[in-house]
Amino acid sequence: MINDLWYKNSVVYCLSIETFMDANGDGVGDLHGLARRLDYLAGLGITAIWLMPFQTSPGRDDGYDVSDYYNVDPRYGTLGDFVEFTHGAKQRGIRVLIDLVVNHTSDQHPWFQEARRDEGSRFRDWYVWSKQKPANANEGMVFPGVQTSTWTYDKEAKAYYFHRFYDFQPDLDTANPHVQAEILKIMGFWIQLGVSGFRMDAVPFVIAEKGADVKKPRERFEMLRSFREFLQWRKGDSIILAEANVLPETDMDYFGEDDDRMQMMFNFQVNQTLFYALASANCRPLEKALEATRTRPETAQWGLFLRNHDELDLGRLSEGQRSAVFAAFGPDKDMQLYDRGIRRRLAPMLEGNGARIRMAYSLMFSLPGTPVLRYGDEIGMGDDLSLAERNCARTPMQWSTEPQAGFTKSATPILPVITGGAYGFEHINVADQRRNPDSMLNWMERLIRMRKEAPEIGWGDYSCVETGQQGVLAIRYDWRNNSILIVHNLMREPVEAEIDPGIGENGQLLIDIADGSNSKAGKDGKHCVFLEGFGYKWYRIGGLDYLLRRSDI
Ligand code: NOJ
Repeated sequence: MINDLWYKNSVVYCLSIETFMDANGDGVGDLHGLARRLDYLAGLGITAIWLMPFQTSPGRDDGYDVSDYYNVDPRYGTLGDFVEFTHGAKQRGIRVLIDLVVNHTSDQHPWFQEARRDEGSRFRDWYVWSKQKPANANEGMVFPGVQTSTWTYDKEAKAYYFHRFYDFQPDLDTANPHVQAEILKIMGFWIQLGVSGFRMDAVPFVIAEKGADVKKPRERFEMLRSFREFLQWRKGDSIILAEANVLPETDMDYFGEDDDRMQMMFNFQVNQTLFYALASANCRPLEKALEATRTRPETAQWGLFLRNHDELDLGRLSEGQRSAVFAAFGPDKDMQLYDRGIRRRLAPMLEGNGARIRMAYSLMFSLPGTPVLRYGDEIGMGDDLSLAERNCARTPMQWSTEPQAGFTKSATPILPVITGGAYGFEHINVADQRRNPDSMLNWMERLIRMRKEAPEIGWGDYSCVETGQQGVLAIRYDWRNNSILIVHNLMREPVEAEIDPGIGENGQLLIDIADGSNSKAGKDGKHCVFLEGFGYKWYRIGGLDYLLRRSDI
């Protein structure tokens, strides 16, 4: 089991081929470039890569508008290069997950082109049409402020088509059995080329009823079971990581009561309350979110993250909580997006405060689930707010002090490299940080090692332990006679917290995993834990022989 359910304790690294490394000097990152950087990623210690969409696309939504599901966009390489890459990753023990974007296609996809041209086409009902403008055409936009409608008139088709996202992303009618069969075929294709599964885009919309008459769309959860079944028939250890920003009450509908739907889901509830905790130094709502998302089947796992390639969506927080996060991390209008979120990268949000940034990562890595890192965060990259919408946090990876940060030999990279100022590549780059033992990069490598040596987090039961301080979170994990306790101080000020990890007074120690020092309980069983401002401690609970007692090593 431990070795089979690899995703329970994986460390995932998310990147876009386009902005990672350009090997052929045309300004666009490519598969060759990525393959050359596999040793860097292996050295960092990550165990899986999540590749953002790289299939053929007009690129109007950074690849989330696919025009050929069975090809690599020629700017990034060929299918042959893709297989070389997955093989190279496998040789280094790294798994590959890829985005699966099947809620919609690009309007340039031949299916849509044919469907709009010919009412009799077999592709016509692969999409969702209406002769009249539906009454709710101005509702349900995912990108408010940028997108004005969910139904757009197509002159050629002489009908309106439905699009949950931008108007160049017509929704597939996922209820159509032919569309469902095609989705399985796409999964089967990429599985065959060496991937271990998919980050499935926009899952609630994929499974929602669609149509002009649909007032309150019902979800067809059975579809999720058919995806999983198919995948597991083809390749037993492949998984789906669902992008589903839903309320905790529906989590089990996505995971499946019988442990038969999604193996993984991103935990948006925890993500948002985590940012509230960082902003307000109040951990209580985060503790509640952990409790609300506790229930999940035995083989399921949460995907945890701080920032991703989209805006930090704060839509699930209360009005007051949301204002607190905006005030702390995104006070200016141009830092905000879609009336609900912040589009900045983590380091500038936390004012470049190294201790705070490290504490935030340590905290995320210590919560129940599998951590998902975003490229560049391991060196503390910044953003470029002059770029439109979410592009500000999608700038090229900063490798060195060479021109264009060593990302490309071209003078015109696909997106501008961040230059000058505190986050410019002159200061923030991999090459410099490699040489400095105290750098963010080397710290991240140590954090990843520490997380991998704490399988209790992925497998164990957890409980939040009372710390007497709203700004201090202590979480304990127990698994197979092993226990760990991880404590974070979200406050600027140092603190002394009285913590009773529940192990009694007798001979039990808290052993600091980072430096080996230990603390003994007082008569009342309590430990007095001192934490610097934004400090943290990872402890193993027990006698000094804990390494010998661990059943899995
Ligand atoms: C969610 C993705 O994360 C986002 O980047 C994209 O724009 C939409 N889905 C549409 O595919």
